[in-house]
Amino acid sequence: MATTPDKTIAPKVADQKAGNDGKTGPNPAEQRPLHDGTNSTGLTAAYAETTGAGGEPQQITQDPAARLTTNQGIPVSDNQNSLRLGARGPTLLEDFVLREKIFHFDHERIPERIVHARGSVAHGVFEVTRAIPELTRAALFQKAGNRCDVFARFSTVAGGAGSVDTPRDIRGFAVKFYTAEGNWDLVGNNTPVFFIQDAIKFPDLIHSVKMEADRGYPQAASAHTTFWDFVSLMPESLHNVMWLMSDRAIPRSLRMMEGFGIHTFRMVNAEGKSTFVRFTWKPKLGVQSLLWDESSKIQGADNDFHRRDLFESIAEGAYPQWDLGIQIIDPAWADAQPYDVLDATKLIPEEEVPVQIIGTMTLNRNVDNHFAENEQVAFCPSNVPPGIDFTDDPLLQGRLFSYLDTQKSRLGTVNFHQLPINAPRCPMHNFQRDGMMQMQIPKGRASYEPNSLASFGEVGGPRADAAGGFRTAQPATDLGNDPAEGKLRVRAETFADHYSQPRMFFRSLTPIEQGHQVSAFVFELSKVEFPQVRARVLSHLRNIDEDLAARVADGLGMDLPQAANGKPAVDLKPSDQLSILKQPLPPAKGRKLGILVTDGADGALVDALQAAAKAEGASVRIVAPKVGSVKLAGGTMLAADGQLDGEASVTFDAVAVIASAAGAEALTRHKKAIDWLSDAFAHLKAIAHTPEAQPLLDKAGVAKDDFILGAADAQGLVARLADRNWDREKTIWPAM
Ligand code: HEM
Repeated sequence: MATTPDKTIAPKVADQKAGNDGKTGPNPAEQRPLHDGTNSTGLTAAYAETTGAGGEPQQITQDPAARLTTNQGIPVSDNQNSLRLGARGPTLLEDFVLREKIFHFDHERIPERIVHARGSVAHGVFEVTRAIPELTRAALFQKAGNRCDVFARFSTVAGGAGSVDTPRDIRGFAVKFYTAEGNWDLVGNNTPVFFIQDAIKFPDLIHSVKMEADRGYPQAASAHTTFWDFVSLMPESLHNVMWLMSDRAIPRSLRMMEGFGIHTFRMVNAEGKSTFVRFTWKPKLGVQSLLWDESSKIQGADNDFHRRDLFESIAEGAYPQWDLGIQIIDPAWADAQPYDVLDATKLIPEEEVPVQIIGTMTLNRNVDNHFAENEQVAFCPSNVPPGIDFTDDPLLQGRLFSYLDTQKSRLGTVNFHQLPINAPRCPMHNFQRDGMMQMQIPKGRASYEPNSLASFGEVGGPRADAAGGFRTAQPATDLGNDPAEGKLRVRAETFADHYSQPRMFFRSLTPIEQGHQVSAFVFELSKVEFPQVRARVLSHLRNIDEDLAARVADGLGMDLPQAANGKPAVDLKPSDQLSILKQPLPPAKGRKLGILVTDGADGALVDALQAAAKAEGASVRIVAPKVGSVKLAGGTMLAADGQLDGEASVTFDAVAVIASAAGAEALTRHKKAIDWLSDAFAHLKAIAHTPEAQPLLDKAGVAKDDFILGAADAQGLVARLADRNWDREKTIWPAM
């Protein structure tokens, strides 16, 4: 059907919902200006279908407003055939339509990020829930109810842009706040600490964890020699390594991760008073993780597991949300701690300094274009509005240099701030001019300041605002630093304790979580070629916790070496907040139920399961031996969402098998169906089934326990959607 070019972007379903609830929308980002007449308008041409002389399909429009053009706007008459000398002759250089198209295609890729290359993104809003003018003069935080657009990017660190979503890795958690006073980028991770204390070690850390330099593998994995060689020689990395070996490094969903700004930052109020803060994002869906076996199988079943999950939940209107909290650090309290709050390898336990919630982020709009938004977004820790400032954390200081520098290389021009995703949503005026890919056309000749051109009636340009502009907090150094010491290339003694907090972390976990951590160490160190490197890691683990070291040594089949030299650990109070399993069971909301249905199955059971899951905000997928549909008992046809081969049970939080006797019998001869159940069982998930499916469960080795339910127990299944049967773990996985 004929359509006219669409000059406005129709709000998507997600945004309409955001507007309706009065809380989360409408998203002001949606009201951005469009470059009319360009690809950004999203027009749809009406066309007729014909066939060319060689049988090639031709879709031809008669609408001049919707016709295909070159980049110069020249209308194109044929998008199937290049210009030839004779129907079977050579292609001509004269063909500017062909040359321009291939030329542009040849240059489509830009360098991927050096780290955090693979990421998933979404737009949203941030709403202040508690004003904090006593802490910061940032306009955003002056009033509860203030809102601004945000853009979030969650990433893995080690893998390339095309790598998988679920390796064991730290996850980046970067948020760009488009505030009325310019962009604020909070560029954090999903762990509260980092591997190194000084930015000068960052290239070494990243070189060690990325693919090994000579062989170009492994991709997206820390389980290899060079990473552990580096770690074993850098005890300061051990605390983040403990987090990397924990369940936090294999998140169930990007929506179920905490985020941390890590560094101690500074907030500055209107009177110029500084307050030291750390930032934390708390997911409304709770923190949840995968099992290691599950996460590695997901890499085969769905490379895009996390990206898909984020995209689909937003498309369905189940908007992910996080509360933003701050820990307010009293310098006198900081002074009394056995660690330095400027040390990014140390966390501040919530039990010591509570997290105070100041706002909520809601991600409510998927991107329109992966490249223009995900690949071109440039987060930069040095982007801060007046009222937020830095500290002397030597890691943060190095980051303030690194990002802008790398982005010039990655995005190719100093004008990348003009890209729509990076441009501030507030006025932006200065005298910076020119440069490659300049998109703006500044008016007048006032490209310098001071100038007096305005007094002659010409454009004079902007001027600095002494009161409202960004002023670096004074004094520049505090929290114990003494500038009188002069210029030194030294590490402060307060940064010397590398074992106490890793010990605190290990001892804060439940025995189940500790077991996972031990297994992770054993798995990773088993991939290390040199026994001396394994021994060196063990020598550090002894300083963290003797039981941890002994269990890892046992798993490796090695003797314990001498403990490493280093400042001895002190016993810090364990922190329950560091454990995932010590928190209340999260809701079934946002979880996924997979129902395997065969011909002849009871449709009422399927309906009841679907209704119960959906009532709790969980999603359901119907899986069938064939994707077409299933013929239920009574003859009704049930459409399937996916076929058994393409819907591995690792992609669900709980499963059900609603099978007839004949259907179940056929599945006992289907390896994928057997794997479907044996994996769900091995991953400690709840399984509901009809009695007729019992032979399939037997074949898959599914033993009876509290998480094996009758198909009619829809409520029981939904109650276990966000849970796992940890008792089952002991019976099927070797204890570590
Ligand atoms: C607390 C420590 C750190 C955290 C939490 C952190 C976090 C992140 C995150 C989340 C990203 C991805 C941003 C995105 O999604 O586009 C990123 C990228 C990057 N980081 Fe860091 N990082 C840390 C330390 C460092 C240090 C010390 C350096 C270098 C001195 C560094 C250099 C980079 C570079 C070069 C990129 C790529 C940026 C781009 O191409 O846009 N990071 N980091």
